[in-house]
Amino acid sequence: MNNSPSPSQNPLKEGLSNRPLPRPCNVVIFGASGDLTFRKLIPALYNIEADGDMPANTHITGFARRPKTDEVFRQELGEALAKFSRSGRVEDVWKDFSGRVHYHQSEFGNGEGYRELAEKLDRLDAESGTAGNRLFYLSVGPNEFEGIVTKLAEYGLNKAREGSWVRVIVEKPFGRDRQSAHDLNEKLSHVFEEKDTYRIDHYLGKETAQNIMVLRFANSIFEPLWNHRYIDHIQITAAEPMGVEARGPYYDSAGALRDMVQNHLTQLLCLVTMEPPTDLSADSVRDEKLKVVRALRKYSPEQVAENVVRAQYAAGAAGGKEVPGYRTEDRVNPQSETETFVAYRAFIDNWRWDGVPIYVRVGKRMPGHGTEIAIQFKNTPGVLFNAEQAGMDPNILVIRIQPDEGISLRIQSKRPGAQLAIEPVKMDFHYKTSFGKPSPEAYERLLLDAMAGDATLFARRDEVDAAWTFIDCIENAWHNHATSPPMHEYPAGSWGPTAADELLARDGRAWRRL
Ligand code: BG6
Repeated sequence: MNNSPSPSQNPLKEGLSNRPLPRPCNVVIFGASGDLTFRKLIPALYNIEADGDMPANTHITGFARRPKTDEVFRQELGEALAKFSRSGRVEDVWKDFSGRVHYHQSEFGNGEGYRELAEKLDRLDAESGTAGNRLFYLSVGPNEFEGIVTKLAEYGLNKAREGSWVRVIVEKPFGRDRQSAHDLNEKLSHVFEEKDTYRIDHYLGKETAQNIMVLRFANSIFEPLWNHRYIDHIQITAAEPMGVEARGPYYDSAGALRDMVQNHLTQLLCLVTMEPPTDLSADSVRDEKLKVVRALRKYSPEQVAENVVRAQYAAGAAGGKEVPGYRTEDRVNPQSETETFVAYRAFIDNWRWDGVPIYVRVGKRMPGHGTEIAIQFKNTPGVLFNAEQAGMDPNILVIRIQPDEGISLRIQSKRPGAQLAIEPVKMDFHYKTSFGKPSPEAYERLLLDAMAGDATLFARRDEVDAAWTFIDCIENAWHNHATSPPMHEYPAGSWGPTAADELLARDGRAWRRL
C-alpha cells in the first residue's frame, strides 16, 4: 500500500499554495530621494509590474524633503530605471506604472505634510479601490524612525480601517547594539503592532537564500547527514570588491560586523543550521531561526581574541586600478578603528551542531565578488581509497547565494584509465540554465510579501534582539576591554589578513577560494 500523502495532504505544498495574495495598496516611501529608492525600490516595484504581479491600481508615493513635481520625480526615476532595472525599461509598462507614482514634498517632522498625505491617500483609495491598505517604507536613517512613526500616529495613518491593513517596512541599520535596537523597537511598538512591522533583510529575499530551506527540507538525501556526525565544518563567505563608496559616514560608524554580520550573515547561518519548522508559517520559521541565534556561543573577551579577527583594508589594487586605503576614503576618520573585514569561528551549542565550527568571513575590497555557504563533510575512513590516496578531498556542498546562483556538490570520481586515480568532480546546478530566466531581485520578493502580509522573510523583534546579543559580546571585547585584539590590515584586493588564515590553520583547515 502506498502511504505517501496525496498532494492535498502534503503540508509543504499546502503551505506554499496557501500563501496569501498581495493586495492593492498605497505604497509610501519615506526618503524617496535616496539612493535605495532609485537603485532598488522603484526598479523592484517596476519589475513586479512588468512580470504582471503588481496588485491592480497600486499607487506609489515618494515622501521626501526636496521640492519636486510628480513629473520631475517620474523623469528622474525613469532615467535611473534604465540603469538599475534587471529587465531594463519597456515604455508601455513604464507609462502605466509611472502614472501611478507620485511625489509628496514635506519635512519628516512637519504635521501639515502628514495631514496632506492622509488626504492624498484617501483620495487615491477612493479613485483606485485600494481600500485603505497602506505600506509605509522607512528608507531613512534610524534617527528618523521615531519622528516619522509618531507623526503617522498623530494623523491616524497607522490605523487600519475595517477589513484593510497598514504595515511598515523598516530598513537597516536596526540599531547599533542591543539596547538601541530595543529602544527603537519600543518606539515602533507604540505605533505599529509586531505583526504589522516588517524589518527588512534583503538577503532573505535572495532566491538562493530561500532555496536553502527547500534544499534541506524538500529533499530526503541531505537532512540525515546534516549534523555533527557527518559535517566537519561550515564556511560562510561574503566578499565584495567594492570599498565603502559614498557611504563613508554611515560605514565608519557601523563596520562590517554591524553592517553585514548582525543581519545578513546571521540570517544565512540560521537558514542553514535551523531545525525543520513544524510548518511554513512566518512564526514557525522564525521560531526555529531564533533558537539558533540564542544557541550561538557567546564569547568572553578572551574568547573573542581567539575566535574573531578584524581588519581594515590598506591601499592596494582593485579591478586593475590602484585604490586608496580605508582611512583615506571620503568622509572616513583618518584614525578610524572601524573594521572592513571580519572573520570568526562560531559554534552553535545544541545537539545537532555540537563541536562543528562555523567559519564566517566578510570583507570589502576583496579580490572577487561572491557570497556562498560551503558545507564540508567529514572524510571517509582511512581505509580503501582514502588509505591509498592520503589527503583525499572531502565532499563539499556549496550553496552559491550570488552571483551565478546555484548549488554544487563535490564528489570523488575515478579518473578514466587503467591506473586507479581518484579526482574530485563537481555536480553543478545553475539557476540560470535550469530555469532559463533570471531570478527576481530580493526587493521584489520582499515587497510582494509585505503586500501579501507574509512576514516569513522579515526579521522578528526577538531575532534581532538575540542577534545583537551575539554582536555586543564582540563589540564590547573590541572596544571596552584591556585585551582587545588588534586591528589587522590587508591590502585592498586581497583575501584579508593572514590572521584570518591562521584562524582556520590552527584547526587544520583552510578557507575556500571563491
Ligand atoms: C548592505 C550593506 O546591507 O548589503 C552593504 O549595507 C553591502 O555594505 C550590501 O554592500 C551587500 O548586498 P548585496 O546584495 O550586494 O550582496
